[in-house]
Amino acid sequence: MKLNIALLAGDGIGPEVIEQAVKVSNAVAKKFNHEINWTPALTGAAAIDAVGEPYPDETHEICMKADAVLFGAIGDPRFDNNPKATVRPEQGLLKMRQKLGLFANVRPTFTFPSLIEKSPLKKERIEGTDLIFLRELTGGIYFGERGRKDEGETAYDTCIYTREEVKRLAKLGFEMALSRNKKLCCVDKANVLESSRLWRETVQELEKEYPEVEVSYEFVDAVAMRLIQWPKAYDVLITENMFGDILTDEASVISGSMGLMPSASIGVHTSLFEPIHGSYPQAAGKDIANPLATVLSAAMMFEDAFGLKEEAQVIRNVVNKSLAEGVVTEDLAGEGKAYKTSEIGDWLAANI
Ligand code: IPM
Ligand code: MN
Repeated sequence: MKLNIALLAGDGIGPEVIEQAVKVSNAVAKKFNHEINWTPALTGAAAIDAVGEPYPDETHEICMKADAVLFGAIGDPRFDNNPKATVRPEQGLLKMRQKLGLFANVRPTFTFPSLIEKSPLKKERIEGTDLIFLRELTGGIYFGERGRKDEGETAYDTCIYTREEVKRLAKLGFEMALSRNKKLCCVDKANVLESSRLWRETVQELEKEYPEVEVSYEFVDAVAMRLIQWPKAYDVLITENMFGDILTDEASVISGSMGLMPSASIGVHTSLFEPIHGSYPQAAGKDIANPLATVLSAAMMFEDAFGLKEEAQVIRNVVNKSLAEGVVTEDLAGEGKAYKTSEIGDWLAANI
């Protein structure tokens, strides 16, 4: 099979972790006789530096032509610490999500048997956790009207959702639940927010079409608590953009390191695969970042974008093997040897 993949490394540790995912993907392609055609393109601060724009048109065209997009990370402290900056790397990510129509962000949370002791949470609470967040990605407060008034003394961001936007995400959630443990949790703040009441109303309506799925409606603050108290209680959780952003960072603690969790963004025009972690600028260029979230994102890409399940499983197996054998980066090494980012990539590719 021929796989045309747009490669957006982005900022910070993005290029380093992407490089390892490319090594592993190429090794898998070789094993299964596929041909991968990688097309690199600029995003984020790297793109601002090169062409003054965080998601240039040329990058968009490359993404539109590709069968899938593999993405690293975006963000640079030069912009974070300058509230007056008018062009920001993150705008590139948001523009990309919007222009590619990436409305559903699939963020799984699971545990690795060999890392169960690394989590700050008790083993018996987290062992066997297997849940999926479906985060709405192209609406809500991230994309609502925003601005300043009163000569800059008042600022506002608005959270807007249409019924259709909620419905298309919720449908995916119900379908996903059907293929799993048939439980769906609608996470909202319907006791306060009107947009949340629209979410609840829409999901309640859809519930009738999926009688096999057991649906719960929970407030986001309560979910934030239960998620680390009883993560095994959840199967599929659907939620709006910002709640999903916050809860998925929290959920990553369950697996032991933020450097482990992959994600897929399902879109109207294409799909995109990226680690859930950010650009981790403190580690950039040091060859110490954990590349596994990106490698596992590549596994999701093989499975979801190309239907290549066996290839995806080969990647997951080699990742599990590396963890079991202690071939890990410093975030997981503890007292043991800390491998470099590039060494992990080499090891994984050699063991495919
Ligand atoms: C994420 C990130 C982004 C988000 C940032 C970088 C804009 O935190 O993908 O979760 O908030 O969506
Ligand atoms: Mn985030």
